[in-house]
Amino acid sequence: MMIPHDTIDNILTTTRIEEVIGDYVTLRRRGVNLLGLCPFHNEKTPSFTVSPAKGIYKCFGCGKAGNAVNFLMEHEHFSYPEALKYLAKKYNIEVEEEEQTPEQLQELNEKESLYNLNLFAQQFFTKTLHETEEGKAIGLSYLRERSIREDLIHKFQLGFSPEKWDAFSDYASHQGYKKEFLLKTGLSLEKESRLYDRFHARIIFPIHSVSGRVIGFGGRILGQDKSRPKYVNSPESEIYNKSKTLYGIYFAKTAIIAKDNCFLVEGYTDVISLYQSGIENVVASSGTSLTHDQVRMIQRYTSQITILYDGDTAGIKASFRGIDMIVEQGMNVKIVLFPDGEDPDSFSRKHHPVEVEKFITGNSVNFILFKTKLLLAETQNDPIKKAALIKEIVNTIALIPDGITRSLYIRECSALMTISEMVLMNEMNKILRTRFKKEIPSADQESIPASETFTPTDTQQTLDSDSAEFQEKEIIRLLLLYGHETIHIKKTPDDTEEIQVMVADLVVHEILSDELQFEEPCFKRIFQEYITGNENDSFPDRSWFLSHRDQEVSNMAVNLVFSPYELSQNWLKNNIMVETEEKRLKMHVKHTILSFKSKKIDKMMADLQKQLLSSSSEEEQKELMKSLQKLKKQSIRINNQELGRIITR
Ligand code: UTP
Ligand code: MN
Repeated sequence: MMIPHDTIDNILTTTRIEEVIGDYVTLRRRGVNLLGLCPFHNEKTPSFTVSPAKGIYKCFGCGKAGNAVNFLMEHEHFSYPEALKYLAKKYNIEVEEEEQTPEQLQELNEKESLYNLNLFAQQFFTKTLHETEEGKAIGLSYLRERSIREDLIHKFQLGFSPEKWDAFSDYASHQGYKKEFLLKTGLSLEKESRLYDRFHARIIFPIHSVSGRVIGFGGRILGQDKSRPKYVNSPESEIYNKSKTLYGIYFAKTAIIAKDNCFLVEGYTDVISLYQSGIENVVASSGTSLTHDQVRMIQRYTSQITILYDGDTAGIKASFRGIDMIVEQGMNVKIVLFPDGEDPDSFSRKHHPVEVEKFITGNSVNFILFKTKLLLAETQNDPIKKAALIKEIVNTIALIPDGITRSLYIRECSALMTISEMVLMNEMNKILRTRFKKEIPSADQESIPASETFTPTDTQQTLDSDSAEFQEKEIIRLLLLYGHETIHIKKTPDDTEEIQVMVADLVVHEILSDELQFEEPCFKRIFQEYITGNENDSFPDRSWFLSHRDQEVSNMAVNLVFSPYELSQNWLKNNIMVETEEKRLKMHVKHTILSFKSKKIDKMMADLQKQLLSSSSEEEQKELMKSLQKLKKQSIRINNQELGRIITR
């Protein structure tokens, strides 16, 4: 029994440490790292640091450190294979547990063979460039003409393929490389059972994986021959998947982390030229729009992408849809438009690195605002066009996963378009509502949709969790999301039997029995409807609130349902792995109710104490003291983590 090397590789590259640890510890962003309370020792101030880019964690309090696998081994006492299997499960990666079949072994060896051959080819092309007459006279002089510096030619391992039609194929065959692999990497092609080269008389740009292995090549013709394709590229193979590759990522990743931003350009030469200008956090999509996988790759290092475009607005407009997808993945996208006829490569050859840097910073515009301005200029006050524009822009804003960011954009765009925020907000909520209905066809599904499971997210939008508003919001959100779920609980802690209750039932009962009130008017209104529902034996469901006749209520409901959970430290401190959704839900319900109560009662006690201090009548003081005593008792019970007795109906 063993997990194939390849699968381990796959697991380790797919794993995002912040997601793994995030299941156990609340992490908040602090610069490029994430910070939380150490799960391995007791602490009040967080010193547990996770570096998503490096894939490691370290506690500066107790010194524990490692990667995602070590974390699971330490925290869950998993063995190494168990930790890997846990990760495979989390990321839906299939693990074949049986002995490996000869075919599997062969496939593994095959990949290794392809890597080897590519390395061999890269060395051949590089040698040809630097050490042959042909390479020096044609290749090197071309690169010099384009003023690509020697150190970058070496760094990016540029090369040259000879003119002769089978120079490489012939050499590689003589060195013992098999035809099968020459064809699979696409370095050779076959015609009438003879091998010839894919690349002739071209400048060779090796394409590297994130870890720096050569997985493919791009070859550029010299000069401007319009009759031949400018670039020839390796075909896809077992080791080269275009949609999962970004040119330059291996050289850019450290700089992307350091700058917390990734520049995206179109071509090989743009990457190298910008690098030469000192801008190292740059990758190329090789002439196509970014794929989901490519965005995810960048996301391992930063949540900021800046797309550098060469001059033409038609091209940019065509790419709006593609950029929407990036926004949807939670990335912050900026656009830089280069002057007409210039691409990043030509621009940086004409300007001093300082000017290049200055131009880019000075011309970075947020994508949503950029799109708004560009489309707005085209409407020219035509009301029909403007209405279409609003829909278009709001559609994009609605894609942003984070609720607070969404409202910020609504505000900015409302100013740009001179349309009231409320109109935009309503329009957006319409979109969110339909989308939500599509995602969750019926409100009373059996299981909790994955998008709503309690994954602690690092929310930059942390409301003060001590505020009454926060606690009220969490209760309402709980009701909206899980009100109709049922859970099994004990009536009193001493009971052995469990009974089944509806979450909404429990919440309403708990809050009423402690005689607690909502303050925020909108939350109060929503809660009142649950109380009425409780009396009538039927709770309103989520869709009722999402399309409530009271606009304020429906807006609130939409926003609550769509913003990620903000879990407080308390809940996670005594956090254990909970196996079932029901257990997680139960813990969540209990936690939400208890924090609500405890915050409310704290506040009521503080109010009473204030009154007590300012009271002069002895009679009144006695009354106040009595109430205070009562609250104290309540508070003790709540802080002992007990829910009150539960009624059955
Ligand atoms: P460009 O035409 O902008 O090329 O295509 P470039 O990188 O700026 O090259 P120079 O400056 O003219 O030397 C952008 C990218 O699109 C892909 C390549 O990845 C290229 O870098 N492309 C372009 C091809 O794959 N094949 C082509 O024929 C043209
Ligand atoms: Mn170019």
